[in-house]
Amino acid sequence: MDDHPLHRPGPVLAWEHDGAGLTARHETAVTRIEATAADILRVRFLPDGEPAPSRPWDPLLPLPAARLTVEQEDGALVLRTPLLTVRLDLAAGTLHPRTADGTIFAADIEAAGWRDMALSKTKLRHMPDPELPAGRPRTGVVLHKRLAPDEGCFGLGQRTGGLDRRHRRLTNWTIDRSSPGHGRGNDNMYQSHPVLLAARPGLAWGLYLHSSWYSVIDTGYREPERLTLMTLGGELDYFLFAGPTPAAVVEQLTRLTGRPALPPLWALGFHQSRWSYRSDAEVRAVARGFRERRIPLDAIHLDIDYMDGFRVFTWDRQRFPDPAATVAALHADDIRAVTIVDPGVKKEFGAGYAVADDGVAGDHFARRPDGELFSAYVWPGESLLPDFCRSATRRWWGDLHEGLVGIGIDGIWCDMNEPSIGDRPIGEPGRHDQPIPLAARQGDDGEALQAETHNLYGQLMVQATADALQRLRPQRRPWLLTRSGSIGIQRWSASWMGDNSSWWEHLAMSLPQLASMGLSGSAHVGVDIGGFYHHCPAELFARWIELGTFYPFMRNHTRQGTRPQEPWAFGPEVEALARRAIERRYRLLPYLYTLAHRAHHTGEPLLRPLLFDFPDEGRLHPIDDQVMIGPLLMIAPVCQPGIRRRLVELPPGTWYDLHSGRRVDDTADRGALITDAPLGRLPILVRGGAALTLGNVRQSTAEPLAELTIDGFPDQDEPRTWTLIEDAGDGHGYRNGELAETAITVHPLATGAAVEVGPRQGGYAPHPRDLLLRLHLPERPGTVRLDGHPADTWRWDAQQQAVEIRLSDDGQAHRLSS
Ligand code: GLC
Repeated sequence: MDDHPLHRPGPVLAWEHDGAGLTARHETAVTRIEATAADILRVRFLPDGEPAPSRPWDPLLPLPAARLTVEQEDGALVLRTPLLTVRLDLAAGTLHPRTADGTIFAADIEAAGWRDMALSKTKLRHMPDPELPAGRPRTGVVLHKRLAPDEGCFGLGQRTGGLDRRHRRLTNWTIDRSSPGHGRGNDNMYQSHPVLLAARPGLAWGLYLHSSWYSVIDTGYREPERLTLMTLGGELDYFLFAGPTPAAVVEQLTRLTGRPALPPLWALGFHQSRWSYRSDAEVRAVARGFRERRIPLDAIHLDIDYMDGFRVFTWDRQRFPDPAATVAALHADDIRAVTIVDPGVKKEFGAGYAVADDGVAGDHFARRPDGELFSAYVWPGESLLPDFCRSATRRWWGDLHEGLVGIGIDGIWCDMNEPSIGDRPIGEPGRHDQPIPLAARQGDDGEALQAETHNLYGQLMVQATADALQRLRPQRRPWLLTRSGSIGIQRWSASWMGDNSSWWEHLAMSLPQLASMGLSGSAHVGVDIGGFYHHCPAELFARWIELGTFYPFMRNHTRQGTRPQEPWAFGPEVEALARRAIERRYRLLPYLYTLAHRAHHTGEPLLRPLLFDFPDEGRLHPIDDQVMIGPLLMIAPVCQPGIRRRLVELPPGTWYDLHSGRRVDDTADRGALITDAPLGRLPILVRGGAALTLGNVRQSTAEPLAELTIDGFPDQDEPRTWTLIEDAGDGHGYRNGELAETAITVHPLATGAAVEVGPRQGGYAPHPRDLLLRLHLPERPGTVRLDGHPADTWRWDAQQQAVEIRLSDDGQAHRLSS
């Protein structure tokens, strides 16, 4: 990025402070600084002085601006919000932000600079066509900031490799990163999230490069202590998040770009997929396979072969003579149906397939720079690609889902939406990607170039689909799954990480990958359980399904031609293990669903790295083979064949082993523990103070919860409160108070342990059920008290070392103490 001289702005010569912010005029170029919120700063560096026009598809949400005061101090302007201070050095034109307590972070090394990238000797990696139109599109703006030596670089969206992405050069450009697989050293993938969460013990801060153009974030690859931002588009626009914790950064990011949608409860259940269940009979057989074996299941996905010759919005009537009947049969078994939809529309006119004709009539398809229709090859052969930047096109595309919604399809799986297109039919030798030309005009009035909108292609397809599901079925929550996306995708869709392989390395990689997505704003994420490419060995499947239980989105999926990958395909032993794992998922749903509500409220990811919950423990920051599932559970999976024990790093505090119910922190040596991890016994640790809420095993979320267990794991010293959140599981009533919240406090061992359930609050009344109160104790107590009186019906679970008492759940307060 450095081999061609940059234009420099020179010193700041004049400035204006208006209500909204500060405009600093350099010799050439302008810097504009605004307080988007007291803890979020927006900085725009404008080489030609003019900000880019705002776009209807911009993911930014309007926030009430905060007050920004400006004072002049020897050679600098000092800008202040209640939570941030920034010093603008007038001579150098550099910015030096500080937190409220004075810690400096993200300081500019020098002022931003710019150059014409076509003149640069540096090739733009992964840019299909670096010959961009002159002017702003190919003006690259570059900024270097200082990274502290002990600062890790996290988030940064969907990548391969480890959790800490320091010392890498990361491109933001969506591509179909499929075969030959997701190698550790790969760079950009299907999604693009130019967001960074920098963390060192005591401080986390964040940065969002607000650019949908091709951009690069260098986290110390060229120079170890230098963070470099580069984007095309002729302007550098970024947001700084003041943290100071990782949780605060994610909250700030999702306050600005949107909180994760609340999924319907069924979407948190188990999903079964493969490319493809090819006929009505096959789909029914899979459903029956689950029900007969009593393996819980909530959804079956239909991959591309349900369509007639891969024509979107059609059905192959030979293999699916009555699609509505197929869906009805699934529904009768309490299984939801999800269909794949790809953006490529078969280029076929006047042959009884109206989508291409209608699309051309409505001018909905992308055109080449010369105005001719653009086409490229994907599943149906030569295909046309909708221009989702056009509002009328989004509406048209959305309405095309009416047929699917009409027959009862429950969710839409948006695939190949990077978009993934080539210059000849799929499978033909010598096939290459053939992207929409970067100089093609997109949007309502052709207002933007494809170079600006490429990264948003998948996201806008998803938006069109989500809006349609909302419009066509307003009483239900839309549920979507997408492969491509960008900042803000969490508002509309869950994401999976694309075409992984049935390799142990990819099992291990799923943790940093999903944890990074969570830090980038996407809470509902998963990878193909069992792996997509290649045959999955039995042991790998066993390990994958026990880990997949904890993926926010849990789906088994594999490629055409691989061996069967349903949970029973690996023999009775693995089948039994898979059943137990999936049953565990269903038992955990009250907890996971509460986490989904929390994510919807603050952005807090369901699956997150240890640093999220223990930001002050530097030793835990790089760990990516253990993750937290919400604040109460930590899992430490085995991701290698033949291994039956593993080392678990224990964060500070009291910890229990979920399997034995016993405390384990007292046996830890220097913060680590060796634990047994035979097949079927994924190490799951429970944080002291946790009130784990568990349901009974159900075959699907459509069955009512008949029993709620509240399992108290007392901390040694601290009381802790957890609030269980419940609602109808679908629809929007929760927004109008149809929500039940139950605060549960677990009192510590030091003062005589107790689990105290508060009265249920709110306008949602759960199905009548039993309440099982449990409390883990070091030894069998002499007496047990319920609501202050000695109880006579309690039970001691000697194996789990827990007192247990059964009540009927009357929504009233209860207290179980020893
Ligand atoms: C893509 C998807 C994969 C799907 C296949 C066929 O490779 O990533 O999940 O099965 O296309 O539709």
